[in-house]
This record gives sequence, structure tokens and C-alpha cells, in this order.
Amino acid sequence: MSDLVNRPRRLRFNPVLRDLVAEARLDPRLFVMPHFVLRDPQRVEDIAAMPGIQRQGIEPLLKTVESDLKLGIRSVLLFGVPGDDEPKHPDGRGAYDENALIPQAVAALKKRFGSDLLVITDVCLCAYTDHGHCGVIKNGKVANDPTLEHLARMALAHARAGADVVAPSDMMDGRVAAIRELLDEEGFVDTPIMSYSVKYASGYYGPFREAAHSAPQFGDRKSYQMDARNRREALLEAELDVAEGADILMVKPGLAYLDVLRDLKENFVQPVAVYNVSGEYSMVKAAAQRGWIDERAVIMENLHAFRRAGADIIITYHAREVLANGWL
Ligand code: PBG
Ligand code: ZN
Repeated sequence: MSDLVNRPRRLRFNPVLRDLVAEARLDPRLFVMPHFVLRDPQRVEDIAAMPGIQRQGIEPLLKTVESDLKLGIRSVLLFGVPGDDEPKHPDGRGAYDENALIPQAVAALKKRFGSDLLVITDVCLCAYTDHGHCGVIKNGKVANDPTLEHLARMALAHARAGADVVAPSDMMDGRVAAIRELLDEEGFVDTPIMSYSVKYASGYYGPFREAAHSAPQFGDRKSYQMDARNRREALLEAELDVAEGADILMVKPGLAYLDVLRDLKENFVQPVAVYNVSGEYSMVKAAAQRGWIDERAVIMENLHAFRRAGADIIITYHAREVLANGWL
């Protein structure tokens, strides 16, 4: 007779039993699919560094969202990609002027899909400033306070168009408060703010900056996005956002920051979102295309890792392929 009483392997021999005792579970309802919206309403463009993801004008976007909805993807996150011929302004006013792109896309999506679709909009100036930074420049620096009114006006334009949630990604201090104040003044007291609370300065955003034409024309984003070496500072960022009225907190990127995701989950009662960013997606795609990894296994392992670490919401470019292939 064996003297081993505890044998954890007992629960691993049968796949049904493994499913029965699995701790981290995924559900299509917690996925958010990002979209890059083009000015030309009919146009579709591939994004070289993000196989399977496209920039789309409003017409193809409506079709894509419709088929995604059938798969169970009920939430989208929108990024605007202004046309090359559109003049960009130093203060990014194209993000919210009367001709602004994202308000038009939001209105079209809400008109077609109503409350079946949750429309979340990214609020940041970098795709609309001529210098590509997320704030306005004063004396050669990204100036915090003068940026806030532009962000708030952008969020208001989105809310007026019908956005269900606004998501500031700029990392200026005080932006959640500025956005909350203007939204409330204008009657949008019920529009939630999902704050990119803990957004690190990251090499993983490379493919996104190509996709959104939002790379900074000089310098980098290290004076506003967080330093990858810091963990406790994440709690400060989240605490300030909560005090300013953030309804949902986000950690970004995901894979290299699972410890931070866990920290937020344990220290705050607000729902916590994770952004599985472009570079994380592209690395998986590139290795899979070369046959170096099992794509399905790696994608599902990554998504379960977010869940295990505490994510309530997962923003991921993988959402469509996971559901279309029946990998859940
Ligand atoms: C813009 C923004 C970025 C991402 C989301 N919003 C890029 C950046 O900060 O440079 C990254 C998303 C991704 O990489 O998938 N502020
Ligand atoms: Zn930005």
C-alpha cells in the first residue's frame, strides 16, 4: 500500500473533472474587442504588424460588429485613425470638433445596435496632435493641466454621440476629475469612466502606434506613462483615479504586469480591466505563423492568466478568433 495520501494528480486524469475543478474561467461577456476606425466610410486596411486586425471605415465596421455580436462579443473599444490628408493640430482639437470621427462612429453603432452593444471610446489626443503626444506641448514638454480641458471636451463629444463608457488613456494627472466634472455639468452623470489607471510606458505598444498613426514625433511617453520598474506607484495611480470618480480601473499592458493586476484586484472594489495590448498579440501571431508555438494553447493560456490574476474585464484583439473557433 502506498503511503502517499495526497495526490493532486487525482483531479487531473479526466478532462471533465479538470473542467469541474478549474479555478479561472472565461466568458464572452467579459471580452472587449478594440477597433481602429477610418475616416473613409467604405475603406478597409490591413495592419501589417497585427495579422487578423484591420482598420475599417464605418460601413465595414458595422458589418464586423454585427458578426462579432453573433459570436457573443458585446463590447467594443474605439480608436480613431484620422486620414493622412486631415490636418492635425498641436492641441488635438480634431478629436472633438464638429467633424470628429469617433462621435460619428459611435452614433452609427448606437443607431444600428442600440443597447445590444456597449460602446467604449478611447479618450486620448495622440492620434490627433501633429506631434503625436498624448497632451499639449508647452516649452518643449507635455503640459499636464492645459491638456485636461481638451481631454474633457473629447470625452464630452463621445458621450453626446451616445458612448456608453469613456476610457481616458493619456495618463495626465487629474484627467478623471476633469472629465467627470464636464460630463456631470453637461448632464452625463450616468456615463461611466473606465480609466487606464495603470498604464506603463511600454515597448508593447509598437504595433498599435503603426495601426493608429499615433507614434510621438519626438521623445517618448516616459514623462507621463508609468515606469515599468514600479509596483507601489500603481496603487497611487489607482487610488487617485478612484478619488476622482473612476468607475472601472485598467492595467495595461497585461502579461508583463500580472502582479499589478493582482494588486489592484486585492486593493480596490472597483471592477478591474486588463488590456492585452498590440505587441502581446503580435508576438503570439508572429511565433504561431512560424510554427514555433501552438497558437491556440498560448492564446488560451494568456487569457486564463489574466483571469487568474484577477481581471474582471479583458480587452483583447484575440476575442474574435477565440469565439469563432469555439476555443472557450
Ligand atoms: C493611446 C493608446 C495607446 C494604446 C491605447 N491607447 C498607445 C500609446 O499609449 O502609445 C495601446 C494599445 C495597444 O498597444 O494595443 N494613448
Ligand atoms: Zn495617447
